Formats: sequence, structure tokens, C-alpha cells
Amino acid sequence: MTTPPIDPTTTKAWDRLTDLEAWMTPDLRGWFEQDPDRAQRMSFTAGDLYVDLSKNLLNDAVIAALIDLAEEVNLPARRDAMFSGEHINLTEDRAVLHTALRRPKGATPALVVDGQNVDEDVHATLEKVYAFAEQVRSGQWKGVTGKPIETVINIGIGGSDLGPVMVYEALQPYCDGPDCRFISNIDPTDAAQTTAGLDPETTLVVVASKTFTTLETLTNARMVKSWLLDALTKAGAIEDSEAGRSKAVTKHFVAVSTALDKVADFGIDPDNAFGFWDWVGGRYSVDSAIGTSLVLAMGRSNFEDFLAGFHAIDEHFATTPLEQNVPALMGLLNVWNVNFLGADTHAVLPYAQYLHRFPAYLQQLTMESNGKSVRWDGSPVTCETGEVFWGEPGTNGQHAFYQLIHQGTQLIPADFIAVATPAHPVRDTLGDDSDVHELFLANFFAQTAALAFGKTEEEVRAEGTPEEIVSARVFEGNKPTTSIMAPALTPSVVGQLIALYEHITFTQGIVWGIDSFDQWGVELGKQLAKAITPAVGGDEDALGSQDSSTQALIRYYRANRSN
Ligand code: F6P
Repeated sequence: MTTPPIDPTTTKAWDRLTDLEAWMTPDLRGWFEQDPDRAQRMSFTAGDLYVDLSKNLLNDAVIAALIDLAEEVNLPARRDAMFSGEHINLTEDRAVLHTALRRPKGATPALVVDGQNVDEDVHATLEKVYAFAEQVRSGQWKGVTGKPIETVINIGIGGSDLGPVMVYEALQPYCDGPDCRFISNIDPTDAAQTTAGLDPETTLVVVASKTFTTLETLTNARMVKSWLLDALTKAGAIEDSEAGRSKAVTKHFVAVSTALDKVADFGIDPDNAFGFWDWVGGRYSVDSAIGTSLVLAMGRSNFEDFLAGFHAIDEHFATTPLEQNVPALMGLLNVWNVNFLGADTHAVLPYAQYLHRFPAYLQQLTMESNGKSVRWDGSPVTCETGEVFWGEPGTNGQHAFYQLIHQGTQLIPADFIAVATPAHPVRDTLGDDSDVHELFLANFFAQTAALAFGKTEEEVRAEGTPEEIVSARVFEGNKPTTSIMAPALTPSVVGQLIALYEHITFTQGIVWGIDSFDQWGVELGKQLAKAITPAVGGDEDALGSQDSSTQALIRYYRANRSN
């Protein structure tokens, strides 16, 4: 039976938080001066992650009230329900078990859900992916003309692309297998650019789609199939016959999907297909067979470390009391920022160039999960939900949009992420011989201090600033930030970071009473695109049924398209 969501705004904790906000005068300078233990008390560890919440607009009373709020909305029970495989994705009547994807082999007791031993299924698929990847990486797997694979193209979109591409970029130093490229956009430029210069004889395509019905992915897969087969046929590398083409597809196409029947319809050998399950949401699937391109790129042992990283944070989230539970505290802090301090957006600022796709990855994870206006029982939400997540790596962002965070009128909580060990230790030998990673990290440390403590009028004047520009140079401070540090950007740490944000997202969804695991909001656009396609192609009847703005736009397109 559906447990109805508890309206967070009717809880005692919500009232307390409302009062606390009303009485709070943010003063991070004063709070740090008066309380030398603040940083220590408000910093936590989860796995290898060190997380400092002390530069947020929080005090102990706020943290205590947020923890009470989590208890009042039954966060611990909902979390346990997710881990045990209850159908908490109510609108799709599904379990939510991405945490099962990273349970170690032989974990006891085994996880049995809906009568199925999930652990066995997960590990059987992993073994299949590992065995295939080993064949490709060792050169034993040959293309149709007998050459080993040098390049992998992953074709997918949303969760079937953003996770693999983000992790491939994040773990470049660990990628010693074939080069990977990614096609997601249905703009034909994406496929054209990605295949440019590639040798079809040494290219392997991974078609990744949970449903295997996604228009973009299937269109791209057909385009790449035709590129590959045409090139091989023209070069005389394969017979120009159904049998010749089918042999080439077997050697150059594999698929990842929950719909293995549709994979077979596409012409991909079922032996070359890796399955997963409807209880893995697309945006939670990078650690399933959707990560096949990653296993090809970095090998079994690195992928196992990646999964172990997720699991470490799962264990932390599942077992740590709320007072020390990092994902829960960060999710609750986001609730505080959104619902009490009025933040509309949330910046994620990795000080690690290899994490440059992490903000884009988090956009789908957080916004597709929590951008909802109804609760899991269909009733309207009772407060703001979801924030706009965005970001770019530091220090690039400092020279672009940080101005608005420092001195603009909006409150923008920001997560700063850095690692202690550089991937490329270098000294500025032609300059002052400084360690360049230390210059980089100095910026990471300086920014959160500047945002928190600002610069007063007196300080600006003391620098000899002309009076007429003193106010322009004042920094108000009290801009909330969270600092996340790890020893190095290893496969495990990347897994830990992803799991951290998965559980933060879950925590917020539970407080707001929403189903964080469906995504009905993407359907309408898909339906309309289908209906509009004939109009774009020149069907006047179809065009006539569109609104006047859409008609004019399509007519503009038709008049201005040059062949
Ligand atoms: O349209 C949204 C969505 O369903 C995402 O949730 C998903 O990650 C993406 O499309 C791709 O879906 P699929 O893996 O089924 O191709």
C-alpha cells in the first residue's frame, strides 16, 4: 500500500526552521570568530570524502531542526525501503535499486526482490561485460576484417550518455584501452563529427538505451550503422549482401538495454547485448551495463574500484546516524537553502579539470529527479522543489560568472570540489618554480573564504580606495558554500562523488514528498516532436494544425533552408 507523503510544511521542524530563519542574521565572520570549533564540528567524512559544511548559513539549531525534519518525514524508513527493493517509484510501480548494482559479490544476506535474486543477476551481467571487454582490450576480439578494435563509439542520450562521458573524462589517467567517443545529439553534426576520421574496420559501436525506443539514439545508431556498412562495402572489406552486412554488425555493434527483444530487432546479436533492469533509472545507470564503454576504456579492475566507491557511500548513507550522515545532511542543507533562504539555483564548481562534465551529469541526476510539482500520491507539492544545478570547473568560472555569486543579488549556494593529489604534478619552472596544483588549490581555498567573509567598507578604505568606488569594491560575504575534498581523483572517488549526489537528491525528494525516479515531464515534448515532424517536412495539413507561432517558425525554416 502507498504510504502517503507527509507534508513537510505541517511538521513541527518546519515551523522551527521558519522561526530560525526569521531570527537569523547571517554573519559567517562573527560566527567563525566566536566559535573556534565551528569548522571542526560542521565537517564530516564519508568514505574518502571530507565535507565541510561550516561556510553555510547554518547554526547548530538549524542543523538540529533539519535532522528533526528528516525524522518527521520518515527519511530513514524511506531510505531503508529503497535499499530493500520496495516499489518506491510509485508512478511506474518499480523498485529503485541502483544501490544493488554495486553490492559486492557474495554480500550476505542476498538481496531478493520480487522473488528474484538481484545480486546474482547483477554479477552475472557484470561478468559478461568484463569478459567481452577483456576480449576487446586484449585484441582477441577482431573487427570483420580481422583488425583489433581501436575506437569505441557510445551512442546514447540522457543517462545512457551523460554518465559514461562524464566518467570517461574524469578518469582519463586510468583509461588505457580503446579511445571512446560519444554521440548523443540527434543534430546530425554530432554523428558526423564523431565518426570523422575513424576507421570503420577498427571501430566498435555500443548502442546504449534503457528502453531501446529513444528516437535520438536509434536514429544515430542507424546513421552510424549505415556509415560503417557503406564504408566497409565500398572498400570491398565485406560482401555486398545481407550476410556480409550482418557479419559486420555482429563484429562492430553491441548493445546495452533492458529491452533485449528490441536489440535483436535492430540486428544486434543477442550474445553481444548486455541487459539491465527496469529498477535502474536512466540517470542512475552509469554503474550498470550502461558503463560498458567505461569497462572497455579502463578495464575490469578500475571499474570494480569505481563500483566499490559507490558502495562505500551507500553503506555510509544506509547506516550512519543522521547527525553524521553526509548525503542526508547535504540534502537537508539544500532544503534549507531552497525553502527557507530562497535559493533558486545551486552551483557545482569542481577544481579538477577532469571533472568538467560533472555539473552536466548532475543536471540530469538532480533536475530530472526533483523537478516535480506533484507528490507521489498525485497531490500538489506544498513548497518549492528542485533547484537549477549548473557549474563549470574552477578556475575558469572565476573569470566568467563568479562575479554574480560574489556581488549579485541572488543567493547561490555552491559546492566546491577538489582533490589533494594532482593528476599532473608540474612546477612553473619558467616562472617562480611554484607547484601549479598549489596555485590552483589556493584559488579553491580563497574563493570559499572570500564568499563567506567578504570585504568590509573599512577594509576597502584601508587599501586606499578612492571614496567614490568604495561601495563597488565591498564584498558582502555570507555566500554559502560547501567544500568537498578527496585524496585523489581515483575510480573509487568518482564513484563516491556520484553516490553522494544520488543520495542527496533522494533526501530532498523525500522531504518534498515527490517521486524522484520518474520523468513524465520529458514526454510532452517527445509527443509534440512526433506530431510536428510531417509539418517540418512540408505537409500543409499537419502545418495547419499548429499554433500560429509554430507555423511561422516552420515557414521561416522552409523558406531559409539552403540545400
Ligand atoms: O527522455 C528522458 C529519458 O528517458 C532519460 O530519463 C533517459 O536517461 C534518456 O531519456 C534516455 O533513455 P534511454 O536510455 O531509454 O534511451
